Amino acid sequence: MTNKLIYFIGNWKMFGDFGSIKIINKLHNFYYKFSKAHKKNKIILCVPYTLINFFQKKYKSKLISLGAQNCHHHQTNGPFTGSISASMIRKIGAKYIILGHSENRSSGDSIQKIKTKIKSALDEKLIIIFCIGETSGEKRKKRTFSVLRRQIKGSIDKKYNLNKIIFAYEPVWSIGTGNVPPKKELIKIFNFIKKEIKKTFERKTSPTVIYGGSVNGKNISLFASISEIDGFLIGGASQSSKKFIDIIKNYYK
Ligand code: PGA
Repeated sequence: MTNKLIYFIGNWKMFGDFGSIKIINKLHNFYYKFSKAHKKNKIILCVPYTLINFFQKKYKSKLISLGAQNCHHHQTNGPFTGSISASMIRKIGAKYIILGHSENRSSGDSIQKIKTKIKSALDEKLIIIFCIGETSGEKRKKRTFSVLRRQIKGSIDKKYNLNKIIFAYEPVWSIGTGNVPPKKELIKIFNFIKKEIKKTFERKTSPTVIYGGSVNGKNISLFASISEIDGFLIGGASQSSKKFIDIIKNYYK
């Protein structure tokens, strides 16, 4: 099996309460042993804002890292009722942040706004999980590549530190639906994304690009056979320790 670093990133979305600490504890107990045999992987849980600080205090080991799922584009404090800044997120102990998720794009996160959010989060030394992906309509019209190109070029500035950005290809039509792209298509798209980033930002090394959309313990073997994929952004299945563990175990089978 692969010798490169593989990311398993959970996106809890709007789920979880203080009792959910048992999920991170169970995941930890599994991963504590597993990571001794399989060294090259990283587990990150992106949880609701309300749980970051609580988990940070209760979960002392830090073997599993914590992340947020969005932030306001203004970096620090400001008159933005109900919003949370990148600086607040960093101060409560998160190391990662998801930005550009399609569920936030569809409720107002424009390409330009996402660009400002990425800048704020990078300035706060957070590592970005930057989501890109086409809708079913765009796919039908064969616009996948042009959409991905526009999302990458529009939200990433040449000055941004690409080593701090994990790109997550999440076809919108795959999120929460159980439908995943076929292997051939995934290879083509991952090669396109990697080439596009290298070309646009004059970069020699390959960027980290992960896949998200209906990943589960069964279909993970399909993804594991694609060397271009550097990890996974897992929504629904990450809200259960058993399902999350199945994905990790089956990836290495
Ligand atoms: P899903 O969600 O795994 O439930 O499809 C993925 C995501 O939205 O990041």
